[in-house]
Amino acid sequence: MRALEAYQIGCETLSTVSECASFEVFELLSYCASVSRIDVLCDTICLNEQQTNRYLSCLDRRKNGEPLQYIIGEWSFFNRDFSVGKGVLIPRADTETLVEAAILCAKQYQMKNAADLCAGSGCIGISLSCELQIPVDCYEKSEEAFSYLQKNIQKNRANCRAVLWDVCAHSTGMYDMIVSNPPYLTKSDMQTLQREVSFEPEMALYGEEDGLFFYRTITEKWKSHLVPGGWLFYEIGMGQHDAVAQILSEHGFTDICTQKDLCGIIRVVFGRWPAAHVNN
Ligand SMILES: C[S@@+](CC[C@H](N)C(=O)[O-])C[C@H]1O[C@@H](n2cnc3c(N)ncnc32)[C@H](O)[C@@H]1O
Repeated sequence: MRALEAYQIGCETLSTVSECASFEVFELLSYCASVSRIDVLCDTICLNEQQTNRYLSCLDRRKNGEPLQYIIGEWSFFNRDFSVGKGVLIPRADTETLVEAAILCAKQYQMKNAADLCAGSGCIGISLSCELQIPVDCYEKSEEAFSYLQKNIQKNRANCRAVLWDVCAHSTGMYDMIVSNPPYLTKSDMQTLQREVSFEPEMALYGEEDGLFFYRTITEKWKSHLVPGGWLFYEIGMGQHDAVAQILSEHGFTDICTQKDLCGIIRVVFGRWPAAHVNN
């Protein structure tokens, strides 16, 4: 099949499932047959039979709603590549806001280590470790997600330790900074998921009735794992900032701040564990 014909078939097939069909088709052509945009525009090359079959099968999967990232098996986050697939949350661009805010704070306070709770693919912890050159412990409960976490630590040669762990229980570490993008969708959010999102694990999404279960639990259990003056960073869902700031404040955190994402939505809430606090 000619590259241009393949492109046209792809755009037609995905026009009903994607708002950026052309982008997705270029990604699939590159993945299945190493065909570039220039190859399509010049229409100089053909996909062989094996490449054509692979491409048509990927189009079929995408047409059935499977996310592009699962089909390709890899996605970029903070300029690094992360393996993804069934059982692990796809890294989101919004989450780069948390990483940026945490990097700024870590540099300002010369932080020496960190923990990433609910690590999933490891995109947050691995990015922090590589950017800051510090060790990061990445905690994840799901065995499926954990295997991606291990793979991504190796792939990025990150100074991270993958820990198969339920963050609702205490751990042993002490950290300058704890970051988390926990499951935060509410019961009603779960009933109106986009088709693609419903392919991702419920365990990565659902934050109980009001979406705040993990903010309450992590704040309570993990504040004693912060060194005096350490920082706790959360990614949050749209509109959760007041409730999460309130949870931090009730647990004795100070200097509570928020950070907006590129769309102007408050995406990060963070606070400081007081320097003079006696952990209990
Ligand atoms: C919203 S996803 C975030 C994944 C990753 N940090 C990211 O930003 O892409 C939440 C993650 O928490 C994990 N998780 C859910 N409950 C957990 C628990 N009790 N202990 C540890 N991890 C948990 C899920 O498996 C999922 O990987």
